Amino acid sequence: MSQNKKSAAAQAPLANLEEWEDFLKERYPEPATPFAAVQPDKKKEEFRNYEATARPTVREFYRLNHRHQTFDFVQQKRRQFLELNHRRMGVWEAMEFLNTLVDDSDPDTDLSQLEHLLQTAEQIRHDGHPRWFILTGLIHDLGKILCLFGEPQWAVVGDTFPVGCAWSDKIVFHDFFAENPDSREPRFQTKLGIYKEGSGLNNAFMSWGHDEYLYHVVQEHLPVEALYMIRYHSFYPAHREGEYTHLMNEQDKKMFAWVRTFNPYDLYTKSHSRPNVSELRPFYDELIREYFPPTLNW
Ligand SMILES: [Fe+2]
Repeated sequence: MSQNKKSAAAQAPLANLEEWEDFLKERYPEPATPFAAVQPDKKKEEFRNYEATARPTVREFYRLNHRHQTFDFVQQKRRQFLELNHRRMGVWEAMEFLNTLVDDSDPDTDLSQLEHLLQTAEQIRHDGHPRWFILTGLIHDLGKILCLFGEPQWAVVGDTFPVGCAWSDKIVFHDFFAENPDSREPRFQTKLGIYKEGSGLNNAFMSWGHDEYLYHVVQEHLPVEALYMIRYHSFYPAHREGEYTHLMNEQDKKMFAWVRTFNPYDLYTKSHSRPNVSELRPFYDELIREYFPPTLNW
């Protein structure tokens, strides 16, 4: 019994998913500019400091993520989830489903997942961006419903990175990769690994999480810029550190400007002011209808 409890705790080191996002905000207190990743030289030292001062729960979360996100694990999760045969539901329904995710957050001071999504979308709307961009803000984290399918936190959130090739040393808590079995696979440990120079991120396998999953759910319905934002919004090693350009093709390089434009809305718009859900609902119902059929396969 106590053994079970212990392994359950090891599956969920974070008190809630926002702990990971709070840690991102500590690491990246300033928004990036859309066309350039930030100060490549300064970062390494800073990273080590963030690692040293990270909460034990955050450290444990990254330890599990880096230990278990192997090439084979990614293939297994793609087989398990990319058939999209787990549920059929509409976008708003998926938002309400995500809202049933109960974690240790304090219901009096913390906003629900649905409220966070609305805040992000409302900020994008406020800044006068196109309707597809607002919709992207609304839905970008819906892949977190993977938690409700019983997936552990480290397989849902966390900075993403390609598997099947060497890990950039700009990935936070890089040292934990020593525990990853792929570190003993020579074919995965060169800079390009199993990939070809410039062959495009679409031909690379990303570590498994909510970004990749949602991309597959919505890919037929949104413009390519939106799909990049969704698929790579947690790919901090690329969009904030400027790494992995050797895997990118010309389209990737161009589209990452959009990923960088999106990032501040993801990271910095969450406040404690509660959006009025029932007032906002008609606008978002119409926006969802504009792009999506009544139900999607999840
Ligand atoms: Fe996210």
